[in-house]
Amino acid sequence: MTAETGTIKVGDTNFEAKVRAGSIGPSVIDIGALYGKTGMFTYDPGFTSTASCESQITYIDGDEGVLLHRGYPIEQLAENGDFLETCYLLLYGELPTAAQKADFDYRVTRHTMVHEQMARFFQGFRRDAHPMAVMVGSVGALSAFYHDSTDISDPHQRMIASMRMIAKIPTLAAMAFKYVAGQPFVYPQNSLDYTSNFLRMCFAVPCEEYKVNPILSRALDRIFILHADHEQNASTSTVRLAGSSGANPFACIAAGIACLWGPAHGGANEAALKMLTEIGSVDNIPKFVAKAKDKNDPFRLMGFGHRVYKNYDPRAKIMQKTCHEVLRELGIKDDPLLDVAVELERIALHDEYFIEKKLYPNIDFYSGITLKAMGFPTSMFTVLFAVARTVGWIAQWKEMIEDPHQKIGRPRQLYTGAPRRDYVPVSKR
Ligand code: CMC
Repeated sequence: MTAETGTIKVGDTNFEAKVRAGSIGPSVIDIGALYGKTGMFTYDPGFTSTASCESQITYIDGDEGVLLHRGYPIEQLAENGDFLETCYLLLYGELPTAAQKADFDYRVTRHTMVHEQMARFFQGFRRDAHPMAVMVGSVGALSAFYHDSTDISDPHQRMIASMRMIAKIPTLAAMAFKYVAGQPFVYPQNSLDYTSNFLRMCFAVPCEEYKVNPILSRALDRIFILHADHEQNASTSTVRLAGSSGANPFACIAAGIACLWGPAHGGANEAALKMLTEIGSVDNIPKFVAKAKDKNDPFRLMGFGHRVYKNYDPRAKIMQKTCHEVLRELGIKDDPLLDVAVELERIALHDEYFIEKKLYPNIDFYSGITLKAMGFPTSMFTVLFAVARTVGWIAQWKEMIEDPHQKIGRPRQLYTGAPRRDYVPVSKR
């Protein structure tokens, strides 16, 4: 294979494939014409070697533990900027000037309220519903409330829909939280910044004054930055696939939320905290580590391992620091879950099994402890992930729609079912 082309030999046919180089990272072999030339598909379950699209938004080097948004390292964004600045960067490709930032913040803020009828819509859910179930339903329902921004061929409507999604997702998430808690919804307060407003919508009650703790607000804002986008992960690929058919953005984001819910993806922080609770004390750790290593036991250490990072997840390092800041601020010194987490991390980083398989703690390992300390129930953890990831989904969806080479996503398969056979009447079966 040369730098520009590669030859794939299939039987007697030589398929000349173009090799396309990215700005950084591995090149790709363009096999778009392979089936036409050889009559064969490629087979790659889980897409471990397949680039599904071209993108300029996020770059990950999993071996080095690098995450860049539009070229900027996640550490610098999380340390110096705020979440809405990262949203602007993901959507527009550049960091905003002061005037652009003020204008963007204003535009997002103007869309924070949801249609009043949404409150009625919520009444249809059971009070004990999982808030992610409520999110899938209520975000999907947005397309029934905002038809004036569902024409995806109109750039203005695409931008309005994007603003609406980023602005309304915290409001819906807080409503899901309040609904399950049996408390009245709290309207957004637009004098507050994005994350402080979200904390207030979650934790304020009408009978008391609520003061936002700036340390907790900053910590949650950083958690949002850390989760804002992550390249072509399962939920983002779901949003792209749904959007590739021309579906409206609200429906696509609802599809992304459904995918995020799974414990191997966004549900991992909830699962990680449940696991820490189940382990209970440092003494029980060896038993659980042994279970995780046992090939015959399906148990996995939740919060460890990543499809892409085969090094320390750069977000996990920032998350660990943020976790300690929050616990210090709240005066939580002796949290048994934290003791278990710290010891589990120490053991896993030194254990041959985890070292050999490159299983490092991922972002979910520490985010669960932090969110619990802030007062969020475990069932809300994935909802918070969805709030943050909405901008990534929207930015990726917009990029796809605006790509002139965009086609409907339609993978093929290796069929291993029954060959053609004739129908047998029920009396003869
Ligand atoms: N505990 C124990 N063993 C593990 C773990 C784990 N958490 N993760 C992977 N392994 C083993 C696995 O058994 C396999 O062993 P073998 O080669 O002997 O069969 C090997 O490591 C490779 O695993 P894999 O399933 O082929 O790896 P993958 O890249 O398909 O899976 C993963 C990645 C994240 C789904 C997996 O590591 C996992 O299930 N982790 C726990 C769940 C979790 O924390 N998910 C959050 C991911 S980060 C948030 C996000 O981006 O959404």
